[in-house]
Amino acid sequence: MTELRGLGYLKVQTTDVPRWRELMIDSLGFAEGTGPEPDGLYLRMDERSSRVIILPGETDEVLAVGWEVRDQFALAAVGRAVEAAGTPVKMLSTGEAAHRGVEAAMTFTDPAGIPVEVFFGPVLDHSPVLTGAGQKFVTGKCGLGHVVLPTTEMEETVAFYTEVLGFLPRGAMKVGPAAEDGSQARIRFMGINQRHHSLAVCPAPHGGAPGMIHLMVEVDTLDAVGRSLDNVQKAGFTISSTLGRHTNDKMVSFYVRAPGGWDIEYGCEGMLVDETWYTSEEISADSYWGHDWSGAEPLAAFTPPAS
Ligand SMILES: [Fe+2]
Repeated sequence: MTELRGLGYLKVQTTDVPRWRELMIDSLGFAEGTGPEPDGLYLRMDERSSRVIILPGETDEVLAVGWEVRDQFALAAVGRAVEAAGTPVKMLSTGEAAHRGVEAAMTFTDPAGIPVEVFFGPVLDHSPVLTGAGQKFVTGKCGLGHVVLPTTEMEETVAFYTEVLGFLPRGAMKVGPAAEDGSQARIRFMGINQRHHSLAVCPAPHGGAPGMIHLMVEVDTLDAVGRSLDNVQKAGFTISSTLGRHTNDKMVSFYVRAPGGWDIEYGCEGMLVDETWYTSEEISADSYWGHDWSGAEPLAAFTPPAS
């Protein structure tokens, strides 16, 4: 059993906040949120004051993947488990937690080098969530969405998330060429609630910045997905993948390239897992139809860093 309830927030740094604003608010319909950094872009999806935080900086990279737990007791339990596994944990000060809009939080680094935060007690904003096209983001019991993270340490990363943090395996897909002995790398999907996967990890040629392959967010209607697809094309963003339906989470989605070389997946109709019968299956194609990636620019996580 995991103490984690869902993906709570994602905080990234970028060299181009204005372009992120054009993507997230003007095109994808995120509502403007509030937060302490005057130059930061705070994006609301629901009653939280922000779910996605974009801060200005010299590089494009992930600053924190935030996972939510129920309360202070769950937070303490996660801290003990992570420390017992040999990973140092730092409790954030009251001020640092308040800066994040939560009551308490801790931070540590996963084996892929991704900064992870675990928190409880998010501060709510009860004002109306004014999304761009009246769409409702699907969050609640399923969390904000899912992240797909690159790693050069596949086995260690999967073991950390499953054995230490308690993520449930939710299937896999082979990627890349098979080795002589028949073994083959796999993307591994993992869940902590009824969303099919809140996390996937993917073998990638380098770790470090940007530390992200994509963030998926879900909205309530196919029309909202279609309108957003029109918007991003009109705004000149690159479509990494055309509209399609995934085989594992059944999501109908498209992928758009964000500043920094990674994607936002924007979809609807994601399935809810019923753990009374679910078994971890291997998919042999990621989509029933669509999801044509032939127009995608290379992902930063798959581009070897300049030496
Ligand atoms: Fe995805």
